[in-house]
Amino acid sequence: MNDIMRRLLWLPPQASTLAPKIDSLHYFVITVTMISSILTGFLAFYFFFKYRARRAQQSTPMVLPSVKFEIAVIGVPLFFFLLWFVQGFKDYIWYTTPPRNAMDVYVMGKKWMWKFAYAGGGPNAIGTLHVPADRPVRLLMTSRDVLHSFYVPDFRIKQDVLPGRYTVLWFTATRAGDYQLYCAEYCGTDHARMFGHVIALAPPQYQRWLDAQGATTTMAAHGEALFRALGCSGCHGATASVHAPALEGLYGRPVPLADGTTIIADDRYLRDSILLPKRQVAAGYEPIMPSFAGQVDEAEVLDLIAYIRHLGGKEALR
Ligand code: CUA
Repeated sequence: MNDIMRRLLWLPPQASTLAPKIDSLHYFVITVTMISSILTGFLAFYFFFKYRARRAQQSTPMVLPSVKFEIAVIGVPLFFFLLWFVQGFKDYIWYTTPPRNAMDVYVMGKKWMWKFAYAGGGPNAIGTLHVPADRPVRLLMTSRDVLHSFYVPDFRIKQDVLPGRYTVLWFTATRAGDYQLYCAEYCGTDHARMFGHVIALAPPQYQRWLDAQGATTTMAAHGEALFRALGCSGCHGATASVHAPALEGLYGRPVPLADGTTIIADDRYLRDSILLPKRQVAAGYEPIMPSFAGQVDEAEVLDLIAYIRHLGGKEALR
């Protein structure tokens, strides 16, 4: 049924766990709206004749609908609206919550190409992203210049990529294949050529591909080297004399801030803390952290974040 509808509507193949959910909601919405518009059109036509202009002395009879009829007319459409709101909201929550065991990939949009960095090691790539099938993949995305949008139709995922901000997407490819990736936000001269590929491989093939790439350093290892080179360890290290927050196990934990609010130490928070440290100062600390804006580029910020995540025991350092 699902597949017949898909062909009927000329939709691309469903190659992620999200795709059937999005499509089912789509079918549900268009079925209900089509049935109701056909019904409305039919009734309009019927009323044309029933209440057509008559001779001057004939009056139109006044019709008073019963309360039950009114309730039904309002209630039935409302019921369907609520039903697809509930289903849509459930799917939305699912779609915006990456599973904990997801593999991390960092995506950088740039005029006019896509760059990928694998948190768990693997070569940095331009244009082609390799992922294992049947495993959730979380994309942390940012842009080096203007707005772009990461769009893989076969996975039914699309998300804007913004300069100076992180956006997140996740997906699980359900079958091996080569899937087209597009930029879906007009970004200048070569916007139309800003496409790439997502190649999903069966897990054994993926492992073989990864092994064939040779020994690579993880982003966390790069981050650790930077952490020392930039002198971060001078304040955040265990033996530091400066009173700075410890970073071990920080990632993903709630942090009380000086203004009384609490924030989760996610990628965005860590990025802001490195580039805009005055914005969110942890409670109990002096606002003495210098900004590293201009000293590190976006890729290096991601390496540092990967290192801080590793300090929480989340990722291996190779
Ligand atoms: Cu990048 Cu359009």
